[in-house]
Amino acid sequence: MTDQRRANGSLRHLLTLEGLSRDELETLLERAQHYVRRRGEVAPRSDVLAGLTVANLFTEPSTRTRVSFELAAKRLGADVVNLEMQLSSRVKGESMLDTIYTLESLHVDVFVVRDAEAGVPALVASHVGPEVSVLSAGEAHLSHPTQGLLDTLTILQHKRHCDQLSVAIVGDILHSRVARSACQALQTLGVKELRLVAPPVLMPPAGEFAGCSRFESIERGIADADVVMMLRIQRERFADTAIPTGDEYFRRFGLTPARLALAKPNAIVMHPQPMNRGVEIDSAVADGPQSVIRDQVANGVAVRMAVLETLSARAVGRRS
Ligand code: NCD
Repeated sequence: MTDQRRANGSLRHLLTLEGLSRDELETLLERAQHYVRRRGEVAPRSDVLAGLTVANLFTEPSTRTRVSFELAAKRLGADVVNLEMQLSSRVKGESMLDTIYTLESLHVDVFVVRDAEAGVPALVASHVGPEVSVLSAGEAHLSHPTQGLLDTLTILQHKRHCDQLSVAIVGDILHSRVARSACQALQTLGVKELRLVAPPVLMPPAGEFAGCSRFESIERGIADADVVMMLRIQRERFADTAIPTGDEYFRRFGLTPARLALAKPNAIVMHPQPMNRGVEIDSAVADGPQSVIRDQVANGVAVRMAVLETLSARAVGRRS
C-alpha cells in the first residue's frame, strides 16, 4: 500500500482512514468543527490555500462529494479545476497518468480522485511530485475517507462520545466504501458496538469488518441502537440477480417509522446519499425529526476544508 505519510510522519495524502491514530482523527474533526456554521450564517472563509490549485478528477458520478470538495477548496482560497473524466481525453486513450502529468505541468498541487477501480488513488499518489497531495474521494468499494470523517463528525455533534454508542449500519455493506471508512474511524475512536445489518448476499465475507456483530434481521439489528446508518444498494458494482428488488427489499430491510421506534428514542438516522426513498428508507424517516442526513451534507464541506488545510500545510509553507 502506498504510504500516505511524509518521512516526518505527517499526513501527505488521504487514501484511507486505516492507520490514522485517535489523536489524528480527533485533530481533524476538531478542525472541521471549527469550519461548521449553522444554516443561514455566512460560510467560513480563509486564504490558507491561496496560490494553490486543486484538481477534482472524478470518473464516477458524484454530486455532494464533488461539489463540497470544490466549495471547500474555494473557501480556503485555492484555484479549482473540475475534470469530468468520461468527457476528457481519457476516453481517447490517454492514460490516467498522462492526464496527471499534464495537470502537474499546469501546477496542480492537490488531486482529488474518485474512481470505480481499486488502487487508482494510490497509483496517482505514487506518481506525483513530492510536494503534491492526493485525496481519495471514493475508491471502488474500499475507501471513502472524507465520508467516514463527516459521518463521525455528525455522530459526535449529536452524541458527544463514541464509547457508549451502538451504531447499526444497514444495507449493502458488501459494496460500501462508506461503511468501511465509517467503521475504521469509529473503531479507532473506541465506539462501544458496531452492528452490520444486511441480507446474506450483501454481507461482507467473514474476514472483513473485524469486531462488528452481524444481523440478518433489521428489527434485531437496530434494537436500542443510538445511530442507524442506512445504505443504498450499489447495483452498479455487481450483476447479482439474487438481490431482492425494490418492494421486496423495502418490506424486509426498509427503515420505516415503526422499525425506527425499536431503536433508542433519541437515535439519529443517517444516509450518505443518494437515497432511494421507498427502497432502503421511508420518506417519513428521511425527512423526519431524527434524520441528520442534511447535517451530513453540510459537514462534508467543513471536513474537506479541514483535510485540505492539513494535507497541504507543507505546500502552503513552501510558497509563503
Ligand atoms: C456514496 C459513495 O459514493 O460511496 N455517496 C457519497 O459519496 N455520498 C454512497 C453511494 O453512492 O451510495
